[in-house]
Amino acid sequence: MSNPSILILPGDGIGPEVMAEVRHVIDWFGENRDLTFDVSEDLVGGAAYDVHGVPLADATMERAQGADAVLLGAVGGPRYDELDFQLKPERGLLRLRKEMDLYANLRPAQCFDALAEFSSLKADVVGGLDIMIVRELTSGVYFGEPRGIVKEGNERVGINTQRYTESEIARVARSAFDLARKRTGKVCSMEKANVMESGVLWREVVSEVHAAEYSDVVLSHMYADAGAMQLTRWPKQFDVIVTDNLFGDLLSDLAAMLTGSLGMLPSASLGAPMDNGRPKALYEPVHGSAPDIAGQGKANPVACILSFAMALRYSFDKGDEATRLERAVEAVLADGLRTPDLMGPEGGSPVSTAEMGDAVVAKLSASL
Ligand code: IPM
Ligand code: MG
Repeated sequence: MSNPSILILPGDGIGPEVMAEVRHVIDWFGENRDLTFDVSEDLVGGAAYDVHGVPLADATMERAQGADAVLLGAVGGPRYDELDFQLKPERGLLRLRKEMDLYANLRPAQCFDALAEFSSLKADVVGGLDIMIVRELTSGVYFGEPRGIVKEGNERVGINTQRYTESEIARVARSAFDLARKRTGKVCSMEKANVMESGVLWREVVSEVHAAEYSDVVLSHMYADAGAMQLTRWPKQFDVIVTDNLFGDLLSDLAAMLTGSLGMLPSASLGAPMDNGRPKALYEPVHGSAPDIAGQGKANPVACILSFAMALRYSFDKGDEATRLERAVEAVLADGLRTPDLMGPEGGSPVSTAEMGDAVVAKLSASL
């Protein structure tokens, strides 16, 4: 049987440098755990625009469709701000999500003990935090039609449409309930059913799926604004949160920051199973391309490394090896290694992107 394939799309800004560390980690698993992947690389975002004039070439899209997993670094940068909307780096990422139909976006917000002090909240509020936001990723206001900027009389009107079908809501709800069963068995669904019809339907469908298939899971509902408030007040009340595309975008940034650093958090975007039983999947750090620090060896590679851990767990059924990698990261942090984003106001001497990557690989070796 051929090796499972991974398509790496480093993208823009700090994407390539954090991805270089992930490649070391992938190599380590090949050399030490008999887990060899066929790894190939391609362009996305501004990097693709520079070469092909589009943020995602058709050939790259095809390769992504055929890969067992896609690992993406980050897209975007000020150089591309003036581009036509359809050519912006972000459109490349959105095309991947939409055409691969990656409807369930898993964004864990986990607070590493060694980093609890970096949160803007009190350490006892975030210490030990471990929640999972499941964001619907392929519909809602991000993709709804009609959309555009049109002329009405003598002024322009910007239009986007929030739209959800029952089946779109039901499938992401199932993803959330399935995950909850493997965790502490609690799901909180967030929408704005008090204001939006799409929210009314969201609440109804989530409740129906729950009653019919998942009555062992504890389900609650919250308006998304109240959810944001509760997330900052006492985040540990949550286990799995399921929400729509736009609310999920906002709430996952909020939840990420609770943990102290965006540079630490991975994500998985999963679709329906392929013929080989693996879900269509794309893994990426939650952080962006951070153009201000790109190319300086200052980026934290941990979020991208942990995204590969999620790939081991969700695409390759190697939960044990995923845990091994997550423990290696924890051990490095416990040793006090810090990239610049993890430096407190009192300072210290930060390590570089490559040093952080090397340290994780060394901890992996120590785990054998
Ligand atoms: C995210 C990002 C993207 C989004 C952008 C880059 C298109 O903010 O993954 O959260 O809005 O979904
Ligand atoms: Mg976002």
